[in-house]
Amino acid sequence: MKLKITVLPGDGIGPEVIDQAVKVVDAVCRKKGHKPEYSHGLVGAAAIDESGDPYPEDTHRLCMESDAVLFGAIGHPRFDNDPKARVRPETGLLAMRKKLGLYANIRPIMTFPSLLHKSPLRKELVEGADFITIRELTGGIYFGRPQGRSEDGNTAYDTCVYHKYEIERICRLAFDFAMKRKKKLTMVDKANVLATSRLWRETVQQLSANYPEVEVEYMFVDNAAMQIIQWPKRFDVLVTENMFGDILTDEASVITGSLGLLPSASIGMHTSVFEPIHGSYPSAAGKNIANPLAAVLSAALMFEYAFNLQNEAWLIRQAVEASFLADIVTEDIDTMNPAKTSEVGDLLADWIDKSKI
Ligand SMILES: NC(=O)c1ccc[n+]([C@@H]2O[C@H](COP(=O)([O-])OP(=O)(O)OC[C@H]3O[C@@H](n4cnc5c(N)ncnc54)[C@H](O)[C@@H]3O)[C@@H](O)[C@H]2O)c1
Repeated sequence: MKLKITVLPGDGIGPEVIDQAVKVVDAVCRKKGHKPEYSHGLVGAAAIDESGDPYPEDTHRLCMESDAVLFGAIGHPRFDNDPKARVRPETGLLAMRKKLGLYANIRPIMTFPSLLHKSPLRKELVEGADFITIRELTGGIYFGRPQGRSEDGNTAYDTCVYHKYEIERICRLAFDFAMKRKKKLTMVDKANVLATSRLWRETVQQLSANYPEVEVEYMFVDNAAMQIIQWPKRFDVLVTENMFGDILTDEASVITGSLGLLPSASIGMHTSVFEPIHGSYPSAAGKNIANPLAAVLSAALMFEYAFNLQNEAWLIRQAVEASFLADIVTEDIDTMNPAKTSEVGDLLADWIDKSKI
């Protein structure tokens, strides 16, 4: 099968983790007889340096013309530390999500048996934890207008806006996921305070009539933040708005053991984007120390969601398990005897090449 993939490495550790993901995709394609066709584009600070635009039209065209996008991370301290910067790398990420219509970000949270002892949480709490967070990605406070500062600069405002159709489409997706899993859906909001949350809750209540088999629970975000850590096994499919999902999934990475392990799939109206949930981790950039597995596992999600190639996705996950068993892991997991980013990628590709599966 021909796989048309646009690769957007981005900034910071993006290029080095994406290099490993591409190594692994190539190995899977060799093994299974697929033909990957890559095109490369700029995004984030790298694109600002080149063209002044964090999501240039050329990059958007490449994304629209491909079957899937493999994305690294964006962000650079020179923008983070300059609140007055006119253009920002993050604007590029938000523009990409908006222009590709990526309204749903699917983030599986799972534990790896051979890493349980590395989790900062007690083994009995996290063992077997396995849930999916579905985060709304193109609405809410990150996109709402007006946004800005008063003329005297002493007041700033952001606006949280949700339209019913935006809530309906992502919640339908969440119900569909729930139907394929344990038929349990947790909707996280702040309906005791926020008008947008009340619209979310009302919409989910209406939709639930179409999914009588799905048990729906409603949870305030502050409570969810606590329960994700205290009792992660109680969750199966969790759906929430943009900012709550952003924060809760970083928190949930603690269950797995490292932010460097969590992949995601952003799906919507046009080409889907597969991206680690972490950022550009600027202090590690170019040092070959970042964990590439979030990017590699995002490539597994790409095989699964963009190409419907389940065995290929499974093969990648098996290779990742093998790297844990061989203790070839980066310093976020093993501080005593860490492997380099590229060594992990090499081991995974080599394991896939030699596998009899
Ligand atoms: N989707 C994205 O591209 C995205 C997401 C979040 C943040 N950002 C941007 O990234 C920059 C840095 O933000 P931040 O420091 O808040 O978040 P970050 O995810 O880059 O890093 C936070 C911490 O998580 C750990 N970490 C992250 N990725 C890792 C990896 N692959 N391997 C090992 N450890 C890893 C490190 O300890 C790091 O200090 C900012 O410019 C921010 O805007 C981008």
